[in-house]
Amino acid sequence: MYHIDVIPGDGIGPEVVDAALDVLKAVSENYGGQFDLEYSDIGAERYLRTGKLLTDEDLDTMRESDAMFFGAVGDPRVEPGVLERGILLRMRTDLDQYINLRPVQSWHPYVPLKNEVDFDIRFIRENTEDFYMGAGGFFGGSKGPDSKVSIRRELYNLELDLHATGDLDGEFAYEIGMLSAKGTERFADYVFRYAKDRGEEKITLVDKANVCTDIYGMQRRIFAEKAEEYGMGLDFMLADAMAMAMVVRPETFGTVAVPNLFGDVLTDLGAQIQGGLGLGASGNINPKGVSMFEPIHGSAPDIAGRGIANPTATVLALAMMLENLSMRKEADAVRTAVKRCLAEGSATPDMGGKLSTKGMAARMAELVIQ
Ligand code: NAI
Ligand code: MG
Repeated sequence: MYHIDVIPGDGIGPEVVDAALDVLKAVSENYGGQFDLEYSDIGAERYLRTGKLLTDEDLDTMRESDAMFFGAVGDPRVEPGVLERGILLRMRTDLDQYINLRPVQSWHPYVPLKNEVDFDIRFIRENTEDFYMGAGGFFGGSKGPDSKVSIRRELYNLELDLHATGDLDGEFAYEIGMLSAKGTERFADYVFRYAKDRGEEKITLVDKANVCTDIYGMQRRIFAEKAEEYGMGLDFMLADAMAMAMVVRPETFGTVAVPNLFGDVLTDLGAQIQGGLGLGASGNINPKGVSMFEPIHGSAPDIAGRGIANPTATVLALAMMLENLSMRKEADAVRTAVKRCLAEGSATPDMGGKLSTKGMAARMAELVIQ
């Protein structure tokens, strides 16, 4: 019996989660496997009613579950960023979900690339460090000095040496990217174990070590040490070259490790080359704790309540959850059902079809059982 914390959230979140759970029911019926679903009302509605974003009780429920299944948050009545930061980011940080898993698979016939190749890139994005740590601020200018004095001093001194014009008047803003050796080691451990588990012989590490030599130099060094430890090969790709390679030769990549900021950008490119936003799924993983699985799209308020949202990304997130719970056979069955459903053209309007959210999920559920 698996205990799943279900968080439908806002907008189309509840619609796609409900539809995907029909597919989970089909998995249960066909393969056995019992799922005990606990629903949580985290999201805009509760926030507007009670002012609560993410409570300690919410976090306790999450920690006690085997996995979290998430729809989306975001509501036009709430100022942008409030729900995203107060719920999503806090969840990732408090539960230390330091791995973001974003598969980029070719879902023909929706792949927009000219070459009709099959690909399956496994992006593993580090989720807690790099340029998204929030270590930034201002100095000089009308804003005056900020409170992060020690970082400020250091940067100021650096600026004395490096600033091209030597002109230190005026306003400055900075955002620091930082990697810890410990954070990089646990990231590398996950990546190499993941690739090895899939029977791959090497991984690719994306960075910009030709320009940001310190931060990504250390990352390269640690990955090289870990490659040796795991007996695996290691290729390096610069982030800009990677963006081009994803378009011209996506089939040449398997497991790809990418730091936070570049990962954000490249995985959005990935969502498009695989066939669009309606097909992108993601896992926020704590390898030793509880992990969360979600579609990468948001709450789509423009189409919410009409029963036309594409459930595919959420069904693919479900497959990732099953795989993470070591139900690999079941995960493959769900992905095969998705593939056949898309190939036969059974789809929602965003993909040129006529099915409703529930209708498309029902077709996938049928294909799981066949
Ligand atoms: P969005 O992903 O919700 O929608 C972008 C466009 O894609 C819209 O036109 C929408 O109708 C369409 N779309 C998205 N998912 C679809 C689906 N399953 N089927 C058919 N069409 C789909 O992004 P947007 O509009 O920028 O953000 C809306 C809200 O969602 C905002 O409040 C935003 O902050 C939030 N958001 C939440 C995320 C999360 O919970 N992980 C991720 C991204 C955005
Ligand atoms: Mg993004």
